[in-house]
Formats: sequence, C-alpha cells, structure tokens
Amino acid sequence: MRSPSVRSLPALVLMMLVAGTAVAQSPTYGVGRTPTEEEIRAWDISISPTGEELPPGRGTVQEGALAYRRTGCAGCHGAAGVDGRAPRLVKQDAEPTTNPWNLGRILPIRAPYATVVWDYINRGMPLNREGTLTADEVYAITAYLLYLNEVIPEDAVLDAESLPKIQMPNRDAWAQVPDWQPGQPRLPGYPY
Ligand code: HEC
Repeated sequence: MRSPSVRSLPALVLMMLVAGTAVAQSPTYGVGRTPTEEEIRAWDISISPTGEELPPGRGTVQEGALAYRRTGCAGCHGAAGVDGRAPRLVKQDAEPTTNPWNLGRILPIRAPYATVVWDYINRGMPLNREGTLTADEVYAITAYLLYLNEVIPEDAVLDAESLPKIQMPNRDAWAQVPDWQPGQPRLPGYPY
C-alpha cells in the first residue's frame, strides 16, 4: 500500500511551485500601507547604551522631584521612592556591603548604563500611561532617581550629552561572561 504522504507528493510539489511563482511575482493584496515618518518616529524609541538616539531635552534633579509627583510616580512608588505598592526605586543601605548587586532590585543603581534607566522610564512608565512623558520630564525624573541613589550630585543637569557619560556603579559587574562558542557551557559551572 502506498503511504498517504507519497500519494500527496505531486500535489505538494504543485503547491510549492504555485507558491514560488506567487513570491517571484510579488503581487500586492491591497493590505496595509507604508507607515508615515511620524508613525515610525513614534515606534522607534529604543535608546542604546551610548545614547546616540536620545532626543533633545534636559532636566535637573529639582525638576525631576516635581515631575515625579506631578506625573503620578509617587502614587505607586511612594513619595520618596520607597514604601509604595510598586517596587522601591531607592537603594537599601545594605550594610556592610556597598556592592550594587546587594542593594535591592533597583534599576537606577543596578543598570549598567544610565541610558537604560532613561529608556525604561520613557517606554514603560508611568504604568498604564506609557508614552505620556515629555523628553524633558524623562531627563528630569532620571536625574532625580539617580540623585536619590547617590549616583549623581544634586546640581547635575541631564541631557543627551551628559546622560551617557554617567558612570554607573554597577557598570563593570555586567558582561563578564565570555563570548559563547558552539559547544561551550553558557555559564561557568553549568553543563549547558
Ligand atoms: C500604576 C502604578 C505605577 C505608576 C504610576 C508608576 N509605576 Fe513604575 N513601576 C510600577 C510597577 C508595578 C513596576 C514593576 C514592573 C515590573 O517589574 O515589570 C514599576 C517599575 C518601575 C521601575 C523599575 C524598578 C526596578 O528597579 O526594577 C522604575 C525605574 C519605575 N517604575 C519608575 C517609575 C516612574 C519614574 C514613574 C513616573 C513617571 C512610575 N514608575 C510610575 C508601577 C507604577
């Protein structure tokens, strides 16, 4: 008895040929449209560690303290970045260590680059109202949170130039895993 797969082989070949022809001719189906420049700009919000894509704008620690309350961060994260129902945003002074890994799961102290903090706030906060902050507000709030975590001084002004230059305390604790080669365990001490 011939198996069904063998019997259907000619049909399969025919389908592939038809599909191949369809791709070769690149027909249009009248679906979708070319996005406008404005739409692409609205989606294209990723900021790399080096910060080249940062938009113009600036913000101070004091402006950030005001924006933190005005835009609702305080409602979830607490008035001073602690004791809210959302995660705390200020490091715990975990004595005796000052190792940033032991200061709690706090993005503005553990992130390897300050641009990561900017990007997270810009794309993800305030929760449920993402995308409503102006660039100035994101610079200012980032400044405020980095100041609360003792990463930058109170008179710091953040903009597209100064933000990428900040040396985060945890900068060198990341990326210590060597480049992976085929067949190599991904983490030292693990078999896979
Ligand atoms: C409606 C509540 C809510 C509001 C308002 C809100 N957040 Fe959040 N935020 C959260 C929650 C919940 C998380 C944890 C999200 C997760 O872990 O995926 C979070 C996480 C964060 C983190 C990362 C915390 C960490 O260390 O991992 C930062 C930074 C942050 N928010 C900043 C802000 C800022 C700045 C604002 C104001 C512009 C804001 N949030 C407004 C609820 C909120």
